[in-house]
Amino acid sequence: MTGYSATLTVNGVKRSVRTYPMARLLDVLREDLTLTGTKEGCGEGECGACSVLIDGILVNSCLVPLIQADGAQITTIEGLADGAELDPVQRAFLERGGAQCGICTPGMLMAARALLVRNPAPSDREIREGLAGNICRCTGYTKIFDAVRRAGELMRAPREGLCSGLEARQPESWRRLSRSMPKAAGCRWRAVRT
Ligand code: FES
Ligand code: FES
Repeated sequence: MTGYSATLTVNGVKRSVRTYPMARLLDVLREDLTLTGTKEGCGEGECGACSVLIDGILVNSCLVPLIQADGAQITTIEGLADGAELDPVQRAFLERGGAQCGICTPGMLMAARALLVRNPAPSDREIREGLAGNICRCTGYTKIFDAVRRAGELMRAPREGLCSGLEARQPESWRRLSRSMPKAAGCRWRAVRT
């Protein structure tokens, strides 16, 4: 048995793992914690399929060694929904047909969420830039970008009165994530995913 113990808070739950210090966060999530929603595409930081949030910052988990994530707050695709209530990004992807295959979609959702928490009203160019690290090799991006625009509307709804009822509620998980976002400059994760 190897000897490195780490404690991570994953989707709000404290988890302990014991493995190699340089184990990839992607493998720890999928194999040690059985959170298989995070996918491996390229395994070398190019495709974004493995995207997760660390302390609110989007990273490629295939590039992050466990030792670097020790003590951090991790959000994976499994943590987006708030119980039975889908995240606005999930609702928008469903509504606008933005969900594509099971490999790229989790990463697209995480990237979209990271973008919209930072900037709830992104321009088309900002949406493209926000999802620039997430690659689909087989279809297209039109519906994905449309879904991100729609998710932004759902996020802004309470303030702008665009809709009411269910759609007007921001889940507590968004508010938690907003509070956990570090100030941009000097963030230790910025070098991992730019
Ligand atoms: S699997 Fe991590 S970026 Fe492709
Ligand atoms: S890689 Fe998922 S639909 Fe193209």
